[in-house]
Amino acid sequence: LANEKESMYLVSEFASKYFQNVLLNTEEGKAIGLTYFKERGFTNETIKKFNLGYSPDVWDAFTSEALGKGYKLEFLDKTGLTIVKEEKQFDRFKGRVMFPIQSMSGRVLGFGGRILTNDKKAAKYLNSPESEIYHKSKILYGIYHAKQAIAKQNNCYLVEGYTDVIQFHQAGIENVVASSGTALTPDQINLVKRLTPNMTVLFDGDAAGLRASIRGIDLILEAGMNVRVCAFPDGEDPDSFAKKTPYEELVAYLENNAKDFIQFKASLLMDEAKNDPIKKADLIRDMVVSISKISDRIKREVYIQECSRIMDISEDVLFNTLAQLDKKDL
Ligand code: CTP
Ligand code: MN
Ligand code: MN
Ligand code: MN
Ligand code: MN
Repeated sequence: LANEKESMYLVSEFASKYFQNVLLNTEEGKAIGLTYFKERGFTNETIKKFNLGYSPDVWDAFTSEALGKGYKLEFLDKTGLTIVKEEKQFDRFKGRVMFPIQSMSGRVLGFGGRILTNDKKAAKYLNSPESEIYHKSKILYGIYHAKQAIAKQNNCYLVEGYTDVIQFHQAGIENVVASSGTALTPDQINLVKRLTPNMTVLFDGDAAGLRASIRGIDLILEAGMNVRVCAFPDGEDPDSFAKKTPYEELVAYLENNAKDFIQFKASLLMDEAKNDPIKKADLIRDMVVSISKISDRIKREVYIQECSRIMDISEDVLFNTLAQLDKKDL
């Protein structure tokens, strides 16, 4: 129902404004939320640009305010802003700093809320549930603020998290979006493909980040886009790295370390499988699987040549493997 969705957009917009007002203009918000964002290095300008906020540590502060302003419980429930349980109503995001998630055109679709401690027992981020207006597999965090820069730079940086996007903007790099920790989907990739054919994957410098990059590569190739990957030092993510790196150095790091996907995969071999023939064979097969995702025949041929050269294996055997994979796909 169009009206129902519109009501959900309106209450989400209200929530975004409410959380930001609490952050900037209340004692609790300033002492807890604003202090937290300042410690992360975010300026007031950045906080306003991304509509960051704070949800009071009171069980129904937001819900009461919204009901008092005439927003219906039905839509507070449907957006997941309020959890309705046996006649009782709770704020979903109580006591968290808030990251509104906006559509390509800037509408608030949902939220990510972060706890302020590094308590390993509690979920670090809580996100809005799937709803009529929020489909997490179809949106990329930051796309609204990045779209112009993506088109202009003719490239998109893909990061994992909210704070990676925000810290990059603050550093002066605006062509960046986040998959928000979920496995990348074709719908998400297509949002970017409308703006540029080029994606550079910048995942966290940890095992999970590496796995996510590798999974992402094939999907991005399958969408017909060009993929580069830039790894970060162990334990760093784009946020932590950008925070401590001057702009020129950051740009230079990205330029010098972004490798074409085939080079990136080859560099994994150099790291872990150099003297192991079985691992090397597995890796070559894995590269050919990636190449098989490319539908452009000329690009395929170029990548086969490249793979042959760096892995020191004949093009013939690579083409044969590719042909077998194509057959399996039919
Ligand atoms: N994420 C999530 N739920 C979690 C952990 C992560 O939804 N429990 C999502 C968030 O969108 C987060 C992204 O996955 O931004 C990347 O996760 P991670 O690297 O663990 O978090 P960071 O973004 O680095 O968060 P921070 O710097 O605040 O610790
Ligand atoms: Mn829908
Ligand atoms: Mn991570
Ligand atoms: Mn991270
Ligand atoms: Mn981080």
